[in-house]
This record gives sequence, structure tokens and C-alpha cells, in this order.
Amino acid sequence: MKRMEELLSRFNPDTGTIDGAPTVTRRLSDLRNCFADERAYEAALQQGNPIIYTVASVEPAAGDGQLHYCIGMIMPGRVGDEYYLTKGHLHEWRPAAEFYIGLRGKGMMLLEDINSGESRMLDLVANSAVYVPGFTAHRTVNVGAVPLVYLGVYPAAAGHDYRTIAEKNFRKVIVMRNDRPVLMEREEFVRGLGLI
Ligand code: F6R
Ligand code: ZN
Repeated sequence: MKRMEELLSRFNPDTGTIDGAPTVTRRLSDLRNCFADERAYEAALQQGNPIIYTVASVEPAAGDGQLHYCIGMIMPGRVGDEYYLTKGHLHEWRPAAEFYIGLRGKGMMLLEDINSGESRMLDLVANSAVYVPGFTAHRTVNVGAVPLVYLGVYPAAAGHDYRTIAEKNFRKVIVMRNDRPVLMEREEFVRGLGLI
């Protein structure tokens, strides 16, 4: 039997931390090329380099059949009309699915099927969960006024592929229109800004 610490974890949905777990911090400067509005991104960086999100991860064991999990916390805010977001990724092991559970705040997930190219925007709020199938790029955004906190559970063998997203980015963006989040074609959004 595993040690108690490997079986039980205590997390804090207010701080987005898990006792004893390492936390990665992503600041605005780490998110170059993630926001479609490059002009607003550069202008925001001139104002400072705030924390956009943190991820505390627990990776008890590697190998087939094992699970890893993490708590993500995304701050409220926007760059231009785009809500604060995660880098987004595919799993290195493409068939690996993931289960997201909302704990606090108001968020949305952007899913993009890499085979069909189809996109979906789904609510991620307390008492709801999003199933991210395999072969699906996923990004999370905070569309509310308080930090968004969620738990993600994924196969230990999933791995993270940020490279593919960094090269192509998502086809769609979640932006604020009339105070509400809407899903738009990236190209249409960027054209509307006069950037292409
Ligand atoms: C793990 C996973 C999440 C993210 C977290 C941060 O597979 O999907 O735990 O790692 O939401 O997002 P990224 O990893 O895209 O910076
Ligand atoms: Zn993932």
C-alpha cells in the first residue's frame, strides 16, 4: 500500500494550492502569441507583468494506468477583449482524455478536435465538469470577476504538447462582446481589429 501522503491530498480552492505540491506560475510575458490581439498584448506588457495563472500538480507515479492531477487558478482580467487564458495544449499521447471539475469562479473551456477541426466552448463553473476527449486541444479562460479554480485529472502518460499550439494556435477565440463571452473565428477577430 502506498504511503498516506500519496493517497490523500488537501487542497485550497481559495489559493489554488495543494499541500506539498509544486506550483508553476505563468505571467503575462510567458503567454506571448497566445492572445490574438498582439497590439493589446504589447500594450498590457508595458503596464506590467501580472500573474495570469498558476498550476499546482500532483504526479504520484508514472506509467500506464496511473493518474496525475492538478489545480489551476486563472486570475480575472482581459487583454483587449480576450479573457485571461491558459497557454493551451494537446496531450503528447494524443488519445489521452482529461476530466476538469470546476471549483470556484466562472470559466469556459475551449476545445478543438484535431481531426475534424471542430471547436466547442463549454462552461467550467463550480459543480460542473468538462470531459476533454483525446485528440482535443484544450484551453481554459476566466470569464468572471474572481479567480477561476478548477481541478484537472489526466493519465500520467498524457504529457503536454505546447509546441503544436504555439505554431498554429487555436482556430477560435473566446472574447467579450456586450459583457458576455462569445466564440469567434480567430481570423475574423483579428481582421476586425485591423491587424490583418
Ligand atoms: C493538464 C491540463 C491542465 C493544464 C492547466 C494549465 O493536462 O490540461 O492541468 O495544465 O490548465 O494549462 P496549460 O497546461 O495549457 O498551461
Ligand atoms: Zn491537458
